[in-house]
Amino acid sequence: MGVLHKLESFVEAGAAGDGEFRDAVLRGLARRPKALEPKFFYDERGSQLFDAITELEEYYPTRAETAALRAHAAAIAAFVGEGASLVEFGSGSSVKTRLLLDSLRNLQCYVPIDISGAHLQRAAARLAADYALPVVPVHADYSSAFTLPAAVPAAGRVGFFPGSTIGNFDPPAAAAFLRRARDLLGPGARFIVGVDLQKDEARLIAAYGDAAGVTAAFNLNLLQRINRELEGTFDLAAFRHEARYDSALGRIEMHLVSRADQAAAVAGRSFGFAAGESIHTESSYKYTLEAFAELARQGGWRSEAQWLDPEGLFSLHGLIAA
Ligand code: AVI
Repeated sequence: MGVLHKLESFVEAGAAGDGEFRDAVLRGLARRPKALEPKFFYDERGSQLFDAITELEEYYPTRAETAALRAHAAAIAAFVGEGASLVEFGSGSSVKTRLLLDSLRNLQCYVPIDISGAHLQRAAARLAADYALPVVPVHADYSSAFTLPAAVPAAGRVGFFPGSTIGNFDPPAAAAFLRRARDLLGPGARFIVGVDLQKDEARLIAAYGDAAGVTAAFNLNLLQRINRELEGTFDLAAFRHEARYDSALGRIEMHLVSRADQAAAVAGRSFGFAAGESIHTESSYKYTLEAFAELARQGGWRSEAQWLDPEGLFSLHGLIAA
């Protein structure tokens, strides 16, 4: 490690443009109940706030996943094999990637894919500088179809999707994502997916409603982003963050709840909010090992191995293309 290597050119593969953000927000606020897609959290400020969330005492997923990666490093490296190309979906600041890269041998290249261009470029440049490895950053929205650049060898692709971000899709969308990932990675591919496990409600509510208010700031930043990018007129002080657990669906939800009857404009259109009415901004599904293995099967993968942290809070599934 420590050998300066090249950062391959930055590949634009269809990340969300301003038009898509505007249309999605106008559609989401016109819905009943109102809902916005969580992928729009990750502007520059949102990505920074998410990084801060991962450091919080209450937010166990990052610590637990890191513990699982450390505890099973040798088994995970054996699963990846030698000479693979590692393709990371939603790489963010690539912190967990380093743990994986440290234990892998003879990688062909590392391909981080992220919706946040500036964040991606910085993280990719840091990794290229620290590892003797070609890094091919792809600026794309992995929730839609896109292709990988020719610089990524077709054989031996191994996907990496940590963080339980798969839990931010509804199960049918998660299965569709897994199918698209299988097509993107190709025949013979392997995939390592981080999946948060079901657990008691109090722990989940604390993790998504931390005492310091970082998650609240992350959630409210979405309104700030709308104000900045879409000529929005939201009064941020007139909304509060709320985490709710839905035991029937096995998911924790984030909402922005209106503190009063009010109206806000977005791109010249006015939307009314009753006191107590919410905008549903994120769902985070929690799975059992069996339920996720079944979801993977629906997405065209076989769950070959499962690695857990010592406390049994979080799982990493080793999938093989079926
Ligand atoms: C990115 N994703 C997996 C996080 C989660 O836990 O669902 C986003 C997040 N939302 C609130 N805190 C963290």
